Amino acid sequence: MIISDSIKYVGVDDHEIDFFEGQFPVPNGMAYNSYLILDEKIAVMDSVDENFGEEWLENLEKELAGKTPDYLVVQHMEMDHSANIRNFAEKYPEAKIVSSKLAFVMMKSYFGTDFADKQIVVGEGSRLELGSHTLNFITAPNVHWPEVIMTYESSEKILFSADGFGKFGANDYDDPEGWLCEARRYYFGIVGKFGDNVQAVLKKAENLEIKKICALHGPVLDSEIEKYLDYYKIWSAYEAESEGVVIAYTSVYGNTKKAAEKLAEILVDKGCKKVILEDLVREETYECIEDAFRYGKLVLASTTYNGGVFPKMREFIEHLVSRNYQKRTIGFIENGSWGPLAAKTMQALLEPCKEIKFAENKASIKIAMTAENEVQLEKLADELLQ
Ligand code: FEO
Repeated sequence: MIISDSIKYVGVDDHEIDFFEGQFPVPNGMAYNSYLILDEKIAVMDSVDENFGEEWLENLEKELAGKTPDYLVVQHMEMDHSANIRNFAEKYPEAKIVSSKLAFVMMKSYFGTDFADKQIVVGEGSRLELGSHTLNFITAPNVHWPEVIMTYESSEKILFSADGFGKFGANDYDDPEGWLCEARRYYFGIVGKFGDNVQAVLKKAENLEIKKICALHGPVLDSEIEKYLDYYKIWSAYEAESEGVVIAYTSVYGNTKKAAEKLAEILVDKGCKKVILEDLVREETYECIEDAFRYGKLVLASTTYNGGVFPKMREFIEHLVSRNYQKRTIGFIENGSWGPLAAKTMQALLEPCKEIKFAENKASIKIAMTAENEVQLEKLADELLQ
């Protein structure tokens, strides 16, 4: 990966990983990015995951070509980036470690030392001159950990954005969907809860001319920077990115599924251009979460279960609520063989969400759909399309 004459890529690709952060399936692997800035002083931007320390140090050594680094900048302490700080410090004992005050506290928890003799503590507005390059530090608390800093290199106008603008997938995997799809799943899976914090950083970025974004995961973004910033503005404001209706369902014997499919058919017949059906048990949970945030309207269809709602639906709603799901229209389809309670339960679970408009029409099925249920679905579709 070429960044510039002075800035080299020294990161690694992980194809052994199955679940990133223990929960996000990554069938195309994961990249842990690290960068080397060569100037009168030499800085390394972040380390990599524990399993790739040797490869990272080899990459570094090759690009250093006999020189030694002066600084390791630690923008984020999550272990996929921080695991090799001690190995670096042992290999390059003269190098200083540049990070936020809180990151050094975390280093003490992680390594048993906060590298007191090597510390350079930086905060908002701190600068580090390397020669012709200058690192300008920007605090980014809770994007998505509290100690995070980003770094703007002002001579080449490069934003080192920590986890921001990252995506799932290794860099040697040529993603046919480009950056967007897996960047969106990454954003809502990992950063979704912290929209206000992302907005605060985007506000600071407004004053910067950015030519390239070097994130800690995924490709270097080196053109159409406004486009990437715009996606982050939409996502962090919890605005719908696309028009459409997501129908997320759980079904035990197939009758709730039939109702969900019927609603999809009615919506399409009435002119809705985009309807997405999601089986919450069989489809990847974080793809479903991504779609719920991507589109403006959501219908939840579930069986009544143990006097409440089907477990996978409860889990899905909890994922949305914990990520500050808001500014959406939500409708319900419930099935309850002798006493439907799912819709009431789902609405109660969604109560903490802000700016939600619940559809007045719902479909309430007892075992199998009736003609009356079809009328309910028609009314729900009309209301969603108003
Ligand atoms: Fe890529 Fe939050 O670690």
